[in-house]
Amino acid sequence: MQPLLSASILAADFSALGNQIRLAEAAGVDWIHIDVMDGHFVPNITMGALVVEACRRNSDLPLDVHLMIEHPERHIEAFAKAGADWITVHIENNANIHRTLQHIQELGCKAGIVLNPGTPESSISAILPLVAMVLVMTVNPGFGGQTFIPETLSKVEEIRRMLNHTNPQAHLEVDGGVSADTIAELHRAGADVFVAGTAIFGHPNGIQAGVDDLRRAIK
Ligand code: DX5
Ligand code: ZN
Repeated sequence: MQPLLSASILAADFSALGNQIRLAEAAGVDWIHIDVMDGHFVPNITMGALVVEACRRNSDLPLDVHLMIEHPERHIEAFAKAGADWITVHIENNANIHRTLQHIQELGCKAGIVLNPGTPESSISAILPLVAMVLVMTVNPGFGGQTFIPETLSKVEEIRRMLNHTNPQAHLEVDGGVSADTIAELHRAGADVFVAGTAIFGHPNGIQAGVDDLRRAIK
């Protein structure tokens, strides 16, 4: 699969969000990643459907909405209406995950399942045929700019094996601490969608340099 870069706006300058998104698009990112946090499922509070809608007005790229919230099933319709293309929900807090994934698809979005670093890959085996993407967290969710957890590499390898068996079309996305130093090993382990916030929006030489460094590392 062609590697894709999903730029996490959590690391962008929010006072100029539209401009930051246009710069990322011009620099060649493939998707825009939007981290929704509620201060309950994770300790931080970030953004909601209003921001997704603002991104939609500023870009035609696929919007990759990562829900780190309690009761995501209560909010997926608002995110779909705001223009999300992808909606990913965590396995850890969802007893009725099957229904939630179906609802995302009924709303016309592509559905993905997310696992935290402490969650075993076996927890998603029953729903793998239902999803268009698995997102493996490579840091504990809640904040940008954290250090990549190397133990997650073997989980990426194992989930790629599981997907090859049951759902070979599905994407395998990684999120957290993805940089020019870590992206190559994640790519080798089987990931094909790479979320990057700090490495793109926080690059000392600008957004284009951040994107170029990441692409060069997986050439
Ligand atoms: C963390 C978020 C990530 C975050 C990644 O909870 O899910 O998407 O923005 O940030 P970096 O790329 O800076 O590690
Ligand atoms: Zn994320």
